[in-house]
Amino acid sequence: MATVKNTYILGIETSCDDTGLAIVSNGEIVAFEKSSQGIHQNTNGVVPQIAAQEHLREINSLFQSCLDGAGIEIEEISAIGVTSGPGLIGSLAVGASWALGLSQNLNLPIYGINHLEGHVFTLFFSDEKPKKFPVLVLLASGGHTMLLDWSYPKAFKRIFNTRDDSAGEALDKVATMLNLGFPGGPEIERHAEQAKDELSYRFTVPMRNKTGFSFSGLKTEARKKIREHDELNLADFCASFQKAAFDHLLDQSEKQLSLKQYHGIAIVGGVSANQKLRKQFQSLAQDHSLCFFAPPLKLSTDNGAMPAIVAEKMLNGEIETSFLTGVYSRFKSKK
Ligand code: KG4
Ligand code: ZN
Repeated sequence: MATVKNTYILGIETSCDDTGLAIVSNGEIVAFEKSSQGIHQNTNGVVPQIAAQEHLREINSLFQSCLDGAGIEIEEISAIGVTSGPGLIGSLAVGASWALGLSQNLNLPIYGINHLEGHVFTLFFSDEKPKKFPVLVLLASGGHTMLLDWSYPKAFKRIFNTRDDSAGEALDKVATMLNLGFPGGPEIERHAEQAKDELSYRFTVPMRNKTGFSFSGLKTEARKKIREHDELNLADFCASFQKAAFDHLLDQSEKQLSLKQYHGIAIVGGVSANQKLRKQFQSLAQDHSLCFFAPPLKLSTDNGAMPAIVAEKMLNGEIETSFLTGVYSRFKSKK
């Protein structure tokens, strides 16, 4: 009997400040390495040229650890998926050129992967995988906040994007105002968990009578409240701000559910690591008798398994192939 050869897909993610490498084989993660750049703590935000340098510093040793983790030799890699955009050009270019060198050396196919598609495909690693489509996906990260209509195996269609800041950016900026460090989302969550009253600082939920996402007003309101209160109850403040931001995400997603029939609702991207947000969307799904999907916690934030799983599906012919042709900074919608 002929034996089926395992394929090993190397994924490389360097779109922002996380250097993520992973190896995926038959839909499973067999190696996972990630280095998050703490250096940006000093500037309360990512400095692009420093991010690029840090990726270059980390990538070789993360690759070696991946080979060790998967227990394979370099020649056993079958294909490479590298994030080609959207993201910081310098950071993307480091990952892409490094990957290109490896692919030429080993004569391997190399796919250029859309970062947002990578986030959506982390849902294939969740215990309960989406099987029926369309699924309404909320993508909430540091760089993006949008609703997507996902009909696999066709890619996804953007319903709308934020008009200004992303949800993660708003959390990060408010955390900076409170001197909580960067990235701010996990810090705000940590303090909010200690809150006694999440309604004590009354924030206005944005866009209640409109459609779309907008976080800049909420951020301005936070700055004003911080100035007005001499003695701020940090836990209650974080919980109140977080509640308004998440109610906004919830409101707009629920509006979309009333416009189209979906089989499920999902949250992906860094902000989907938040336990409160997960619970809120789970009950939204229950209220509408829909399945709820979210990635395993460690796959919410940027990582190498994202481009690896998309590339594996390209290699298998499940989805349309996109070979690496360059890197790009802004979102490109597929038809
Ligand atoms: O997806 P991601 O890792 O990078 C981008 O593609 O931007 O998302 C990073 C964002 C940051 O804004 C960070 O503060 C936020 O995700 N984040 C969280 C949590 N963990 C990360 N926000 C809320 N709660 C968390 N636990
Ligand atoms: Zn991301």
